[in-house]
Amino acid sequence: MRKTHLLLSALLFGATLTGAHADDQMLIKRGEYLSRAGDCIACHTAEHGGKPYAGGYEFPMPMGTIISSNITPSKDFGIGHYSEADFNRAVREGVAPDGTRLYPAMPYTEYSKITDEDMHALYVYFMQGVAPVDAHPGEHTELKFPFNLPGVMRVWNALFLNTEQFKPDSNVSAEVNRGHYLVDGLAHCTSCHTPRNDMLAVDNSKYLQGAVVGGWYAPNLTSDPISGIGGWSNQELVQYLKTGHVEGKAQAGGGMAEAVQNSFQHLSDDDLNAIATYLKTVKPVRNPQQSSPSYAVEKAKAETSWEKLEFPIPDNAAPERHDNLSNVDGASLYSSACAACHTMSGEGTADQRIPSLTRNSAVGAELANNVVMAISQGIHRESQGEIASMPAFSADAEHITSSLTPAQIAAVTNYVMGQFGKGDPQLTAQDVMQIQAGGGSSFLIRNAATLAWSGIGIGVAVLLIILIFITERRRKQR
Ligand code: HEC
Ligand code: HEC
Ligand code: HEC
Repeated sequence: MRKTHLLLSALLFGATLTGAHADDQMLIKRGEYLSRAGDCIACHTAEHGGKPYAGGYEFPMPMGTIISSNITPSKDFGIGHYSEADFNRAVREGVAPDGTRLYPAMPYTEYSKITDEDMHALYVYFMQGVAPVDAHPGEHTELKFPFNLPGVMRVWNALFLNTEQFKPDSNVSAEVNRGHYLVDGLAHCTSCHTPRNDMLAVDNSKYLQGAVVGGWYAPNLTSDPISGIGGWSNQELVQYLKTGHVEGKAQAGGGMAEAVQNSFQHLSDDDLNAIATYLKTVKPVRNPQQSSPSYAVEKAKAETSWEKLEFPIPDNAAPERHDNLSNVDGASLYSSACAACHTMSGEGTADQRIPSLTRNSAVGAELANNVVMAISQGIHRESQGEIASMPAFSADAEHITSSLTPAQIAAVTNYVMGQFGKGDPQLTAQDVMQIQAGGGSSFLIRNAATLAWSGIGIGVAVLLIILIFITERRRKQR
């Protein structure tokens, strides 16, 4: 009798244990999925073979270099000592357990929308599903004055951080709410596609209206059929997020290529459809200067008469052989550096996944950024088992096959956009260098140090707020 009882309780106990175990496994899986949706790995893994989540990814900013942290569960080097509350505070409010304020290179202003339930799954995944890496991510973040002052981020957060979690809107469908939650929160589309104000905070009055990030232009994603994605079908949007490529419309380069590769291609079809459905409900905003969608250029302008090229076709110079500096003829540069893939007529070859340059949102755009950046940095993307690869042509690019000077990049961009887009943007070498350098920096970064030192304007305002804040705190602590 007693034996049976023992046996029974052992069985029952075992059953609860496996039950708990299975629950944990499910939570870990869920957390892993959410971490993909949030693309934590992209920023928390060093380039060139860093260990997953071990940190060390560098963000060169005009105010210094920000370096991502080790977020593996290592007790000494990572976040192994974090309680769940610590984790929530770091991810949603940008405050580390020791009180240090994180810089908003970590998108906590978007992650603040994440629900408690999802935060719990993420925590369980990071504690139990990620291998600890016992090593420092290398350098520490070191910023220039005044950004290195401890109070700066406190003030910034007080001004710009909204710690409200996402609240579903009962007037719209569950699918639209799901899409909204992902776009504003975990998938943080807003952090690239919404412009930032002079203080580097996402400016929600220009929600998803398009912004320059690191030289690339993240286009308008509002539902406007001319300036936004109103003319895309949901299925095209899903395909773009999954593969980074929609023939006759657009392809993903720069940060979008990384996001597709690391994050969006792994999202479920339901989630991708929810994102597309939500984007279609975003209030349309049109650029008044624009009269047709960027992908809607049907035909090349005129046939280039290749026999009449003024310059001989250059031998594609290796970086150390800048012997073609004098050739700034766009058409001949195109024929030597680009036509082998995109063909002389610019049609590309669909079977080899070389895109046409007409019906191409980068070439038909109002801004030349994405053409300049694609030429300068190339395109490197792997998704759904397919590789998209265009070589980089800038002399300081990594995967360089042949190099073009800024003047040559300007010339070939002017040719490509004149021929296959909406018109010659008349870029100069100077414009190209500015785009390559990240395209105009914010007022705050350009002027903070000078203003703070010389005692006028915003710099002083910021310092004053900090001083008031610190004095207040001291007063309260006494
Ligand atoms: C766009 C880049 C980016 C993404 C995406 C990102 N992080 Fe971060 N994260 C950073 C940077 C940079 C820092 C360091 C900031 C600093 O030093 O002020 C950081 C810091 C942190 C910290 C603080 C660690 C510490 O104590 O120093 C945690 C925790 C963290 N991230 C978790 C996450 C999680 C979880 C995700 C995904 C849901 C994520 N991060 C996605 C860039 C990113
Ligand atoms: C790290 C920055 C970044 C993030 C995050 C990001 N994007 Fe992008 N996105 C870009 C850039 C840059 C481009 C332009 C790529 C190109 O043309 O090569 C782009 C292009 C696009 C395009 C093509 C638009 C066109 O007219 O060609 C769509 C659609 C898009 N993104 C949707 C999204 C959605 C939806 C999300 C979130 C789920 C998102 N993006 C997140 C940077 C980003
Ligand atoms: C080795 C073949 C190859 C060469 C050479 C090449 N490209 Fe590309 N190009 C590609 C591929 C592949 C893609 C991306 C396809 C994708 O993303 O699915 C691409 C994409 C582009 C895009 C779209 C960029 C974006 O962000 O959407 C432009 C514009 C472009 N190429 C212009 C050029 C120009 C100009 C040259 C010459 C300076 C050139 N390409 C040379 C293969 C090439």
